[in-house]
Amino acid sequence: MLAAAAILAEAGQPEVLRFWPQLSEEERGSLAAAVEQLEPAELRDHCRAAARAAALPPGHEPGPGPHTGPQALQPLPPGVVGSAARAQPAELNRWRERGLQEIGEGRVAVLLLAGGQGTRLGVPYPKGMYDVGLPSGKTLYQIQAERIHRVRTLAAERTGRPCPLPWYIMTSEFTLGPTQSFFSQHGYFGLPQADVVMFEQRMLPAVGFDGKVILEGMGRIAMAPDGNGGLYRALTDHGILDDMERRGVCEVHIYCVDNILVKMADPVFIGFCVERGADCGAKVVGKAYPTEPVGLVCLVDGHYQVVEYSEVVPATMQRRNPDGQLTFNAGNICNHFLTVAFLKAVAWEFEAQLKPHVALKKVPYVDEDGNCVKPEKPNGIKMEKFVFDVFQFSKNFAVWEVLREDEFSPLKNAESVGAKDTASTARRALLWQHYRWALQAGAHFLDHSNNRMPACTQLQETDDPPVVCEISPLISSAGEGLEERVKGREFHPPLLLTE
Ligand code: UD1
Repeated sequence: MLAAAAILAEAGQPEVLRFWPQLSEEERGSLAAAVEQLEPAELRDHCRAAARAAALPPGHEPGPGPHTGPQALQPLPPGVVGSAARAQPAELNRWRERGLQEIGEGRVAVLLLAGGQGTRLGVPYPKGMYDVGLPSGKTLYQIQAERIHRVRTLAAERTGRPCPLPWYIMTSEFTLGPTQSFFSQHGYFGLPQADVVMFEQRMLPAVGFDGKVILEGMGRIAMAPDGNGGLYRALTDHGILDDMERRGVCEVHIYCVDNILVKMADPVFIGFCVERGADCGAKVVGKAYPTEPVGLVCLVDGHYQVVEYSEVVPATMQRRNPDGQLTFNAGNICNHFLTVAFLKAVAWEFEAQLKPHVALKKVPYVDEDGNCVKPEKPNGIKMEKFVFDVFQFSKNFAVWEVLREDEFSPLKNAESVGAKDTASTARRALLWQHYRWALQAGAHFLDHSNNRMPACTQLQETDDPPVVCEISPLISSAGEGLEERVKGREFHPPLLLTE
C-alpha cells in the first residue's frame, strides 16, 4: 500500500485508492501490484495529456492527424513505390531469390503484433485463435505457423542447411496467457519452441475527461495496451533486440494478426527492400473505396508517414486526381520491413519522440457507490502509440504495392448484414485465392455429372468461389509447387490439398 500510495500521490492520482477500506486482501494486493508497475512522472504526464486532449474541440487531438492540415499531406513520390503488378517476372524472381537467401542465412525474423483487444470482432479470446470456418478448421495462428514452416523449407532448399526463422509475438496482458496456452496445446504447430518468442507490451490506464484515472472496479484500474507502437518499448523491456542480435537477425518483417492472406517473411518484399538498401518499408494496397478504414501511406511535411484512417478528414479521403484516381490511394496493410539497425535507433533514440494518439472510448467504470456502470457515450481517453510512426525517422524508405486479392483480407468485424472485413469475407478471400492457384497449376474441377466445370477467375467479393479448394500452407505459401500435384488432373470438389 505504501509504495502504491506514494506513486499515486506523486502522480496526482490519490483517488485511485478511494475504495481501499472496502477491498479484500487479494484485491488490495492486485491493485497495489498494478500501481507499482506505473512510473509516477509518466503517469502524471499521461493523465495531463489526456485531460488536455479532452479539452480540445473535436478533430484537434494531438498526434499526426487532423491538426496537420490537409495541405501538409502529399502522395508518395512514384520513385519510392515498387509494384507487384508492374514488376517484370525476372525482377520478382530476383527479389524472391534474394529474400530466400536472406531468410536461409538466418538474417530474417517475423514479428507479429498481437496485443490488441479485438474489440470490434467481439470475441473474448485473442484474434489469432479465431477459426474463420475453413474446411480445415485452421485458426489464424495455425495458418501463420504453417506459412513459416513452408518458408523455412523453401529457404533451406536454397542454402542446403536448416533455416532458422524466429517468430516474435508481441502480446499484452489480455493476450499473453491464452496465446501461450494455445501454442503449447498445439505443440507450437510443429515449430521449434525456442524459435517462438512471446513478449508482453505495456499497459496504460484509461483516463476520464477530468484527467483522473478510471477505475473499472473498486480495486481495478481500467487498463489498455499502449498501442502497437508500444512495440519499441517492449523490445527493450524484454531484451528482444539482444535476442535478435544473438541469433544474427538483421531484418524483421512485422505484421498484424488479422490478415488471413498475410505472407510470412515474404521473400519478395524482403528481397525488394534489401536490394534497395531500405532501413524501413511498408506494403500497401490500392484502396477498395475512398472511406476504407486503412491508414494512408504518404508524405507529411516531407516525411514518410501513415496518417491513420481515424485521423483523416473526409475531404482528404475523397480527393481525386484529374484522371479520377484517388490522390491518397496507398492503403497501409500493417505489414512492415524494418532492419534491426533501424529498430535499435528507434528504441534508443527516437521512441520518446513518438506522440501518443488519442481515442475517445466508452470505458466501463465504478461510480462513487462502487456500482459498475457501462457508459452510453465516450467518457474516457485511451492513448496509443502507432507502430508506423517511426517511418518519419527512416533514412531510406521503400514502399511495395501488392494486389489486394493476393495479400490483404483482414478480419476486423463481427458478422452482420453488409459488414465488411468479417470472418466470411476473410474465408472467401482465402478460398478464392486457393481456387485460382489450383487453376493456374492446371487442375480441373468436375461437376456432379463428371463434366469439367468452366474456370471462373472473376473475383466476386460477395460470392463464394464456384468450388471449395483449400491448400495447406505447408505445401504452398504463394501458389508455388502445385503443378506436380494437380497439373492435368481432375477433382471432384471439395478439394483439400494437404501434405
Ligand atoms: C491497422 C493499422 C491501419 C491499417 C490496418 C490494416 C495501426 C495503428 N493501424 O488498423 O493503418 O490500415 O491495420 O488492417 O497499425 N495491436 C497490438 N497492441 C495494441 C494494439 C494493437 O499489438 O496495443 C495489434 C493488433 O493485435 C493487430 C495490429 O496491432 O494485430 C493492428 O491493430 P488494430 O487495432 O487491429 O488496427 P486497425 O485499426 O485495424
